[in-house]
Amino acid sequence: MSRPFTITTAISYPNGRPHIGHAYEAIATDAIARAARMMGRDVYFQTGTDEHGLKMAQTARARGITPAELAEEMSSYFKEMDDTLGISYDRFIRTTEPAHHCASQAIWQAMADAGDLYTGRYEGWYSVRDEAYYGAEEIVEGENGEKLSPQGTPVEWTVEESWFFRLSKYQEPLLKLYAERPEFIQPESRRNEVLRFVEAGLQDLSVSRSTFDWGVKVPGSPDHVMYVWVDALTNYITGCGYPDDAERMARYWPNGGDIVHIIGKDIVRFHAVYWPAFLMSAGIPLPRTVFGHGFLLNRGTKMSKSLGNVVDPLDWAERYGVDQLRYFLLAEVNFGNDGSYSTEAIVQRANTELGNAFGNLAQRTLSFIAKNLEGRLPVRTANADDEILLDMVCQAAGTDMPAAFERLAPHEAIQAWLRAVFACNQYIDAQAPWALRKTDPARMEAVLATLYVAIGRLAVAIQPVIPGSAAKLLDHIGVPADARTYEGLAANWYAELQSAGFTVATPTPLFPRLEMPAEDSEDV
Ligand code: MSP
Repeated sequence: MSRPFTITTAISYPNGRPHIGHAYEAIATDAIARAARMMGRDVYFQTGTDEHGLKMAQTARARGITPAELAEEMSSYFKEMDDTLGISYDRFIRTTEPAHHCASQAIWQAMADAGDLYTGRYEGWYSVRDEAYYGAEEIVEGENGEKLSPQGTPVEWTVEESWFFRLSKYQEPLLKLYAERPEFIQPESRRNEVLRFVEAGLQDLSVSRSTFDWGVKVPGSPDHVMYVWVDALTNYITGCGYPDDAERMARYWPNGGDIVHIIGKDIVRFHAVYWPAFLMSAGIPLPRTVFGHGFLLNRGTKMSKSLGNVVDPLDWAERYGVDQLRYFLLAEVNFGNDGSYSTEAIVQRANTELGNAFGNLAQRTLSFIAKNLEGRLPVRTANADDEILLDMVCQAAGTDMPAAFERLAPHEAIQAWLRAVFACNQYIDAQAPWALRKTDPARMEAVLATLYVAIGRLAVAIQPVIPGSAAKLLDHIGVPADARTYEGLAANWYAELQSAGFTVATPTPLFPRLEMPAEDSEDV
């Protein structure tokens, strides 16, 4: 069986509708998951919603509905977003599912059995917005003297009876983990932040709440619900069969397994400190990598409801196209860094790179074949120039791109692809097949055949980023399903199509030209 690969997004709080930051994480993770499948990996890709906690309880109360009703409604918008954007998740998990309650209680019990849980009294700062506890030394003052967390969210002084987790006991094991496995936290900048935080010393963590009841009940302590992050983080193993399905755990959550969490930079501490500590305590294997991507900013400014600059991803998908949006977000931002979006930037990139560079290349080549050869596939008699181009395309599409996806660098995969697309454009201009039609028809055919193969390979290779458009093109030019993988990239489907007498029709443009928004249009 092929090598398993488990990849997850964070699970989102469904206390509002999804915004483009949520879409970004889902799209990036999806591209990496799709690329892994194209490498022949046995992929398990999980996403979902994080439905417990005070934030959900308070939002529901403000709307006069129950938290369960709020979760039910809002979770469906996240799922709808995923489905519209072509997110190829294997499971959309909701933390209110009974199986997840069961997994959360099992990991709790395992931590209790390890002697890592005790009762006490919690007194300190809590941010409902972040669902996080902060140390007094981390609190900053806002403009009006109000207390804020390091993330700039309001905090409130909280005093209550609570269960505690012996996080302090894991300071040394965690530092050892980071030292021995530098790939555990990526990118490097996030790793440094976490190292500094853990080196400064870890306090035991309050892991239950008794002042509200919207959560997973603590085993043997029915007045307490688990701190929402305990149950939220556990979602990853619920989906891998914990606690009862040992076979599934051995496949998708094994010791030394290839398990990757893709999350935003604001929640690295939970994933790179608390989560491995919980797992160590419960005797469960650790993931390979926690990757903290950057934030999407609206023209460099943080998105916020009060600024009215929050973009609805489905709105953009409808205005610009699903694949245009996917491509834009992945190409525009170096994965790991923050990035900005704007209507001009998406229109510009979609038009120049997808429309002009790739779309036109396919359009020109295929229309020319349809018109001048009545769709018959041209005869291949490759010369050195043709071989150089095809080798370059093969290197980019079959080697550089999968390697970039494996490094969790989708933007680098796109750069490699785009270089190959540009090389094809230079080739078509230099060879000018339209001029060869009268003077050297055999050479014209060789050039067109070279381009046909190159376009097929480029379309195969870019599937993780623009799956819908790539599939449309691949269907149009007849590339068989088993050749649509990185491994099948060099397969000789062209000769097979030729001998089967395949003909190609005049295509419709893959990426219709997008218009720049008018200056005064509603613009975000
Ligand atoms: N529920 C927690 C995660 C629990 S994971 C066990 C949570 N939810 S969230 O809805 O606030 O965020 C979900 C994901 O979206 C996080 O990874 C977060 O970093 C990411 N993003 C939220 N806003 C974002 C941007 N503006 N840009 C990019 N990603 C952003 O945190």
